[in-house]
Order: sequence, then C-alpha cells, then structure tokens
Amino acid sequence: MTTIPDNVFAETVTEVEHYTDRLFRFRLTRPASFRFRSGEFVMIGLPPQNDGDKIVYRAYSIASPSWDDTIEFYSIKVPDGPLTEHLQKIKEGDTVLMRKKPTGTLVLDALLPGKTLWMISTGTGFAPFASLIRDPEAYEKFDQVIVTHTCREKAELAYSINTVTATKDDPLVGEFTADRLHLVTTTTREDSPLTGRITTLMDDGSLYNLFGRDGLKRDQDRVMICGSMAMLNDVKDRLEAMGFVEGSNSAPGEFVVERAFVD
Ligand code: A2P
Repeated sequence: MTTIPDNVFAETVTEVEHYTDRLFRFRLTRPASFRFRSGEFVMIGLPPQNDGDKIVYRAYSIASPSWDDTIEFYSIKVPDGPLTEHLQKIKEGDTVLMRKKPTGTLVLDALLPGKTLWMISTGTGFAPFASLIRDPEAYEKFDQVIVTHTCREKAELAYSINTVTATKDDPLVGEFTADRLHLVTTTTREDSPLTGRITTLMDDGSLYNLFGRDGLKRDQDRVMICGSMAMLNDVKDRLEAMGFVEGSNSAPGEFVVERAFVD
C-alpha cells in the first residue's frame, strides 16, 4: 500500500486517446469537491511505485470546461520525461493524482470587458483554450471567440480541430458558438491551407484579414496567449507595442499569458 498525501485527489482514468507519437489526451473522474475556473491549471502526478518514493508532479492545464463531470488533459510525451514517460502509458482504470488546488491567469476574470477574444496557442498550449471555448461564460462576455493553433505538422492539429468540431455540436454550448467561435490552424514545417508562425501572420496582417480586420484595437480586443516561452514573448512584445496592458487575477487587463508547462 502506498500513501497518497492529503492534498491530492486520486482519480480514475476513464479515457485515453493518442494523436501522434508525441501527443495524447486523457480523462479522469472528477471529485465532487473539485472546483476550478475554465482556463486554470493543476499539478498532476502518478501514484508512487513503492512507499516512500517521491511523487513527480507537473503543471497541466485543465482542457475540459468547469461544468464538465470528468476532467480532460492534453499532454505531450517527452522521451525520458520524469512524468510523461510513465503518464503516456496510462490506461482506462489506472489512477492519476491531482493536487486539490487549481490556479492560473488564463481566466476570463483576468480580462477587462471587450468584444473579441483572441486565444493564441502553439503546441499543447491549446489545452486551456479547449476548456474556455466550451464555457458559456466566454460567449456571455464576448461576441466573437477566435482561437489560433500553430504546430509544426498537420497531425499535431487533430486535437484542436476535433475539440472545436465537438464544441459546435455540443448540446450545452453549441448554440452559442455558431458564427461566433472560429479556429485558425497553421503549420510551420509542413504544407497546409495556412502556413507560418502566428507572429508572421500578425505582422503581415493575414490573421486579421481572415476576419475582415486590419489589426487589434485596445478598446475591443482581448488576447490570451499560451505556448512556448519564445512564442509568448514574441506575441507579448507585439501587444505591448500596440499599447495592450497585461492583466492578472487581481488587476484585469487587455491580455493574459501562460506558458504551456510540460516540454
Ligand atoms: P517553428 O516550426 O517555426 O519553430 P514547438 O513544437 O517547438 O513547441 O513549436 C510549436 C510551434 O510554435 C511551431 O509551429 C513553431 O514554429 C512555433 N514557434 C516556435 N517559436 C515561436 C516564436 N518565437 N514565435 C511564434 N511561433 C513560434
């Protein structure tokens, strides 16, 4: 018998889906007492093999919305990664540990009111947006929700494409998303209908042109960014050059940032 600390939930895996040799998603049962805001992250780990073994935790954005009765995560598989080398082998019925306290800045409360919500992601940085686009509150607060997802190759876009399609068919949020939720997918190392880094598409205006716009406006656009550190910094620099102010839970602003954790 191994000991599970008091500050973690031990939850059961209900579903696992592998997309590529680098990416997969999984679902866990949701403890009745677990509350979080869509877009937040939590620390997850695996039960220790032997009593006394140290549990390795990593931060994972919750990819399911706050109303869902199970909890979804989207993960990279890092070769020899202390957690993901084991996590990638989980099967239905296995146990995953989840610390009880969620947190994070990619939440609707950290943004000032606006008209259009842009969510910019690369790689597994799409995960918190998979949660937010399924939350009716996003559509109560914004007229339009535009999510961008950039990956090296087309196969890495499967999760965002599937999630957006399922969201549009969802009985709870589908009706809000018609004509209001838009997904822009781009690849950088394989040909696809839209190629290039998101920063390039911002600089040459082609991202905005897709929506009949010529840029971002501080009085109506709000931006959330999640992905690699280099991408975050480059998008943040562009927003700050346009005068956008970063927000937080205590002081809402015009954009918020979170890095995609496990890499
Ligand atoms: P690129 O292929 O040109 O490096 P990764 O798999 O390394 O996390 O990258 C995910 C995506 O993020 C890739 O398409 C990558 O483009 C892109 N990317 C990496 N760095 C930046 C950056 N500084 N600005 C914008 N996009 C970036």
